[in-house]
Amino acid sequence: MAKVVVVGLGYIGLPTAAMLALSGNDVVGVDIQPKVLEALRSGNIPVREKDLTAIVREATRSGRLQVADCPEIADYFVICVPTPKIGQKADLAAVEAASRSIASFIRRGSTAILESTVPPGTSMNLVRPILESSGLMAGPDFHLASCPERVMPGNIL
Ligand SMILES: NC(=O)c1ccc[n+]([C@@H]2O[C@H](COP(=O)([O-])OP(=O)(O)OC[C@H]3O[C@@H](n4cnc5c(N)ncnc54)[C@H](O)[C@@H]3O)[C@@H](O)[C@H]2O)c1
Repeated sequence: MAKVVVVGLGYIGLPTAAMLALSGNDVVGVDIQPKVLEALRSGNIPVREKDLTAIVREATRSGRLQVADCPEIADYFVICVPTPKIGQKADLAAVEAASRSIASFIRRGSTAILESTVPPGTSMNLVRPILESSGLMAGPDFHLASCPERVMPGNIL
């Protein structure tokens, strides 16, 4: 089983992290909001989704889901941070910050997956150069994928 870091524990990231943990992976869910981490540590689920509370609690009890304010070395990184619209454009500041936060933890053979909703070209033009600041190259050294989420809010499970 793999070590997975999920960055952003909101409507998309939290169910993703919990399901990956319940499938036997070691998952670290990362969020920059202390109140999100505190709520999760005390068993309160800040995302409205049927059955999610039970699933997150089970994943936490199993020891396979932990939460933290900083990423760590992993086989897979899944970026699930917000990309709100400002006018006709997506605000990519959180994607940029999340990419920077994982760059030093990428290793040869790691896979980074951008799951946030982004304009075409974001993986190659924004995320890739940030991750390559690690000294490793996307393709030969680590894998970079774009897999935009297309679920209905609160209806993921
Ligand atoms: N909610 C949906 O139903 C839905 C559906 C399809 C696509 N999406 C897309 O998925 C992405 C995530 O949306 P969401 O609804 O889960 O957002 P959300 O606001 O529910 O959660 C995002 C979480 O990311 C955290 N975060 C922000 N910057 C961070 C950083 N640099 N490092 C770590 N954590 C950080 C926030 O604190 C927050 O807890 C967006 O691009 C959105 O457009 C969402």
